[in-house]
Formats: sequence, C-alpha cells, structure tokens
Amino acid sequence: MRHFYSLNEFSPEQIEQFLSRALFHKGNPYFPTLAKKQFALLFLDPSLRTRCSFEVAIRQLSGGVTTLEGQSLWKIETELGVKMDQDKSEHVREAMGVLSRYFDGLGLRSFARGVRREEDLLDQTFSAFVESAKIPVFNMESAVYHPCQTLADLLTIKELFGGFLGKKISIVWASHPRALPMAVPNSILLGTTLMGMDVTLAHPKGFELQDGIMAMANDFSRRSGGNLRVVHDRAEAARDTEIVYAKAWGGLARYSDPESEAKQRLQHSNWIVDTPFMDMTRRAAFMHCLPVRRNVVVRDEVIDSKQSVIFRQAENRLHAQKAILEWVYS
Ligand code: CP
Repeated sequence: MRHFYSLNEFSPEQIEQFLSRALFHKGNPYFPTLAKKQFALLFLDPSLRTRCSFEVAIRQLSGGVTTLEGQSLWKIETELGVKMDQDKSEHVREAMGVLSRYFDGLGLRSFARGVRREEDLLDQTFSAFVESAKIPVFNMESAVYHPCQTLADLLTIKELFGGFLGKKISIVWASHPRALPMAVPNSILLGTTLMGMDVTLAHPKGFELQDGIMAMANDFSRRSGGNLRVVHDRAEAARDTEIVYAKAWGGLARYSDPESEAKQRLQHSNWIVDTPFMDMTRRAAFMHCLPVRRNVVVRDEVIDSKQSVIFRQAENRLHAQKAILEWVYS
C-alpha cells in the first residue's frame, strides 16, 4: 500500500515521470485509470483549488468521490490514551477504520493547527490519520508539505522554460495579517532544489524555515548541480531572476511568542511584489499558489499582468494530481 506524503521522497527522474504523465493527461482529460475506485477527500481546513481539482480529476479518471468537511463530522481526537470526556466525540482510529471499509483511498488536508509547535513541525495530525488507515492516504496539504501544489508548479515551470537545471527562481516572503503555515514554501524550496534550479530564498530575519528543511534543500541542491542562497534583501532576490514565487508565511516564533511574531510580520509590509520589484527581474514569471491577498502580497498590476501565470498553476493541479493518483495504485 502506497501513501503519497511529500515530493522529497522521490528522485528527479521519478518527478520527471510524474510530469510526463501529467502532460499526457493534459492532452487526454478522460482516461479511465481509476474505474471502480471510490475516494474520500477530507478537509480539516477550507479549500477551493485542491477540492475542485481533485474532484474533477477523480471523475475524469472514472472514479467516484465523496468530499468530507471537518466541521460537518464528529470532532476527531488524534491522540492515543486520552480520556475523551471533552468536545471530541470520535477517535481517528474508528474514523479511519470505518472510512477504510468504504473507500479505496483518502485525500487529507490536515493543514497546520498553529498552536503546538511539535504537533505542526512533526506533522502529527497527518501521521495519526495515516497510522490508522488501511487504505492509501494522499497529502492534500499537511502542516509541513503541500506536494500536489509543488508538482503543479514544477509542471508550470517545465512548460514555460522547457526544463529546470540552472533556471533562476526567487521564493519571496510576503507580509500578511495571519501567520500562515510553511507547507508551500517548504515544498517549493525542496522541489526546485531537487530539480537543480538556481534558487534564492528571500525573507526578513525571523522568518527562517525549519532547520531540517533547509538542510534537506542544501543537500538536494548540491546533489542536483543547482544552487541555493538565502537573502534578507528584496532587491537581491529580484535582480536578474526568471521566476518570482511569492508566498506569505509566519515565523516559528508564532508558537512561543505570537504577539512579537505578529508585530514583526506586520512591520515588513514593504515585502509586497509590485512593479518596481518586477522591473528588477529578467521579465520574470509571477507565481503564487493562491488564495492570495491582493495589494498585501502582490499589487493588482502584477497579478493582472501578462507575467502572471497563476491560472496555469491552478489548472496544472488537475493534471499533476492525476499522475499522483495513478502512482498510488501502480
Ligand atoms: N493552493 C491551494 O491549495 O488552494 P486551496 O487552499 O484553495 O485548495
């Protein structure tokens, strides 16, 4: 039984195979590889793209799909050994035991809770569901990784640039009213270093990604013949880059000192992708996973410009996820 958790479990060659298969599906939308398979998609957090792209992908591959939203289910306990006398009515053991009897696979968006550091950084919610599952589980965004988004992003880059080696991408932090999780920056950093890109990660001090993610990204970069540098100056990130990948995320201090993290995050409201920023690039493509707050993360004139490829990224979720679903059952 195969679970799909993170792209860093795959080699560059395997990722290229996913991308080839995704391109095949882009040209052949209806292909019955999931006939007679039934899927549950469980969202513990809101979603527009992931929900719709998975539902359409499964239907186009002739599978059946049921979408479950956390707030419409019994509140689920994920810890073992607790006395369940509070608000949680169902344990993940029973929930997953039952779902495993109805479905052939489960997509899970566990997201980050943003309360306990260990719970998020070790992806404990996602792991609790996987440990109780008797069917394949695929990651629709956990606290640590959003691999479906990154595969779609890599497909977008391949379509635009023909390949990855040495192509310049800047992953640029943005200010935001909420301390957003790190799953997207973690995943795009690992995906692009794995594929040998020339990667600049730009953020203000205090918004570092986890040490383990940075160590993995440095290792990928060395092995793939790519390059990775971290800068704290926006202009350095913009200069000469071919892709601007904007994303807001909260600092790790959100768990220990949320007030000071929020103050620091809001102080950097100049970290917004605007025309002067894009003018310093090599006519870069503008990428964002969406949803995005206009005129907080990116100015209207950039997101609405010809350089913006946000809709191609969103469309590619559909094609990339078909390749993932097929891999789970191959
Ligand atoms: N990019 C992304 O995962 O979007 P949703 O949160 O709407 O699914």
